[in-house]
Amino acid sequence: MKNISVIGSGTMGNGIAHVFAQYGYTVSLIDISAEALQKALGVIEKNLERQVSKQIITTEAKAIALSNITTYTDLKAGVAKADLVVEAATENVELKLTIFREIDKAAPASCILATNTSSISITKIASVTQRPDKVIGMHFMNPVPVMKLVEVIRGYNTSDEVTSTVMNISKMLEKVPVEVNDYPGFVANRILMPMINEAIYALYEGVAGVQEIDTVMKLGMAHPMGPLQLADFIGLDVCLSILNVLYEGFGNPKYAPCPLLVNMVQAGHKGVKTGSGFYQYTAGSKDLIVAERFR
Ligand code: CAA
Repeated sequence: MKNISVIGSGTMGNGIAHVFAQYGYTVSLIDISAEALQKALGVIEKNLERQVSKQIITTEAKAIALSNITTYTDLKAGVAKADLVVEAATENVELKLTIFREIDKAAPASCILATNTSSISITKIASVTQRPDKVIGMHFMNPVPVMKLVEVIRGYNTSDEVTSTVMNISKMLEKVPVEVNDYPGFVANRILMPMINEAIYALYEGVAGVQEIDTVMKLGMAHPMGPLQLADFIGLDVCLSILNVLYEGFGNPKYAPCPLLVNMVQAGHKGVKTGSGFYQYTAGSKDLIVAERFR
């Protein structure tokens, strides 16, 4: 395996391209927008530079990693030589199905088609291709260059051989792959999202404030971020959409998203990316300030 195509150059896509390029793979980074691709290269450069300043990699390794990445706005051209495609486009079922139909036609017959989806069924995505045995979930965590886990999700028809190839390639990236089966939320989000939802309920019901809830979980459970800060970091719209997948997939009211979360997303307060969520964010500042509404 040498040629990796990454579809989508947002936070997850650029992180995935970064790690494959860092470990010597030839990466085709694909996005519909040339501007988004330029921005992604800038982010990758900045994150590689962080690793240089922390002496994780050398300046030379940074230059090699950057030279391993070529950008494409044409999906067909971008996957034409791929051994492995990792799709990290927007978390939207119809969009993903369209992309998988296209890459199934354009990528070599032997190519493995992976998706970084955080909650959409791998089996459903595989069903629109002619190679369901070669479709698999490869769920990286944000920030990809830092987080060790890759949740490897087997669809109903994913073969043993493809699973073992993807487990091995994850290890080549010095990640720790964990194999799981394809049920709503897989393992990561089936456990993480109800915790975040419960933290939002605790705030909604007035049990405690934003900072108090996050401090309990940070200092009491040694989580690097409290659940409300983590929700802002992931994106409140993403949390809501994953909770809805759990709610609909299991038909169990315990997964129903908290009305406060629904309201915040509808009001456009989606966390870090919109500048406000449970906290408010100013570009360039590392200070964690509780949003005015929750003070
Ligand atoms: N690229 C490279 N390095 C990065 C980076 C990036 N994008 N982002 C952070 N880093 C490095 C920093 O350089 C720093 O390195 P050192 O430890 O060597 O100093 C280290 O990561 C820590 O970064 P910071 O000092 O800036 O900040 P921090 O100590 O507050 O850590 C954090 C930031 C790593 C994000 C940490 O707060 C954390 O682990 N948070 C929880 C993250 C998490 O839970 N992620 C999973 C989200 S769920 C998901 O992704 C999947 C889903 O389906 C929803």
